[in-house]
Amino acid sequence: ISRNKETVASGPEAENVQDSGEITRADFGEDFLWGVATAAYQIEGAVNKDGRGDCIWDVFAKRPGKIKNGDHAVESCDFYHRYEEDLALAKSMGFGQFRFSISWSRVIPKGHGEVNQQGIDFYNRLIDHCLSLGIEPWITLYHWDLPQALEVVGGWKNRKIVEWFAAYSEVCAKAFGDRVKNWVIMNEPMATAGLGYTTGLHAPGKKGIWNFLPVVHHLALCQAEGGRVVRKYVPDARIGIALSCSYVHPHSQNAADIRAAKRADALMNRLFIEPALGLGYPTDAFAFLTNLDRYKVHGDEERLKFDFDFIGIQNYFSVVVRHSYLAPVVWLKEVPANLRNVPVTKMGWEVNADGMFRILKQFAEYEGIKEIIVSENGAAFDDVLIDGKVKDEKRLAFFKDYLSAILKAKNAGVKVKGYLAWTLMDNFEWAEGYSARFGLVYVDFKTQERVVKDSGKWFSAFLNAKE
Ligand code: NOJ
Repeated sequence: ISRNKETVASGPEAENVQDSGEITRADFGEDFLWGVATAAYQIEGAVNKDGRGDCIWDVFAKRPGKIKNGDHAVESCDFYHRYEEDLALAKSMGFGQFRFSISWSRVIPKGHGEVNQQGIDFYNRLIDHCLSLGIEPWITLYHWDLPQALEVVGGWKNRKIVEWFAAYSEVCAKAFGDRVKNWVIMNEPMATAGLGYTTGLHAPGKKGIWNFLPVVHHLALCQAEGGRVVRKYVPDARIGIALSCSYVHPHSQNAADIRAAKRADALMNRLFIEPALGLGYPTDAFAFLTNLDRYKVHGDEERLKFDFDFIGIQNYFSVVVRHSYLAPVVWLKEVPANLRNVPVTKMGWEVNADGMFRILKQFAEYEGIKEIIVSENGAAFDDVLIDGKVKDEKRLAFFKDYLSAILKAKNAGVKVKGYLAWTLMDNFEWAEGYSARFGLVYVDFKTQERVVKDSGKWFSAFLNAKE
């Protein structure tokens, strides 16, 4: 897949391919959107500032052993105070789109009820600053930081969350909708359901498959409900959701492994998009999901639908799965990348750009999807700062390969309209704390110094190139 010179120049056909060389911005077309994505809890810090209420991650991070090295996000990148400097870096790298999330508990400290004007003011400053730089703001309404006050009364397990989320969406749409036209209602709901409420690896740290079902249903209702609310108050908004997805390969061609791969695909790739498209939950591949019916009330099939303007695809890796009797309910196990002799990132995720191509093709098969935005993609590797430089060759190669795969999909007819790199700068990587660096910009968390990595400099040359 790689079209980058280092990898093609040594082959026998080197002479023929040399000139096809590197991808260029122009290959993607003039209208293609280029940006960076971030999330409030991962970058803002200032958790006790200006009336913000606690979110589930503030509480989770205080529980011993939950976050690597005991890290927390009290200060993080201090984006709350440094957003001007950070946006200037995004701008200098040539990005025209900036995706950030709203901290629900900054805006409504108790989750519902009273609005905190100081929270609104912060996002107004941020939005206005984006616009003054000619950068288009993208709001994510929910990126995993549920107000703790709502978790105390059941959080995503409580169906009332549909009302709370609608009210919160309304506050944001009314406050920011005059200037913000790109709205991501929800980020990776599968992570909330799977990691937050089933394995307990993420906040709020709840465990058990019987949490999973109501949480999935309430998230799926909220993604559609949030869409309706934003549509009502911001009629000219482009509204989407951002879904984690990974192409699934069966470990072998045995029937049991193939069925396991289909169950994994249902969970990882189909669970949230299909109800929104009016196709219902993917019970054909995973009969257990019929248990979601227990949480439905009359009218829910309609309520689950929303006609999104775009679907955000967030792909980092593909997976190989096999049947397993050791995993009750799902009866499947992932074959970890480190046992398969493939290159991996610091997260242990397989580097495989072909998986990006395949998953884009897979999503393009849904008739109801109008446009795709790659709303996150990136990689964590160990970075070292030497003489003011971070030579992150592996990350750079990753970006080039994945971008080539996206271009290939685009040229094959997939309606992919934009790319948001994960992420602008190193930040609080959830349960991994600060140990996994994903940024185009290196952050020294002791001094808050920022240094653009080689991958960031590459983007700068790529995006600022005069054709
Ligand atoms: C997806 C999540 O949306 C983001 O918060 C996270 O940091 C990246 N993946 C990398 O794990």
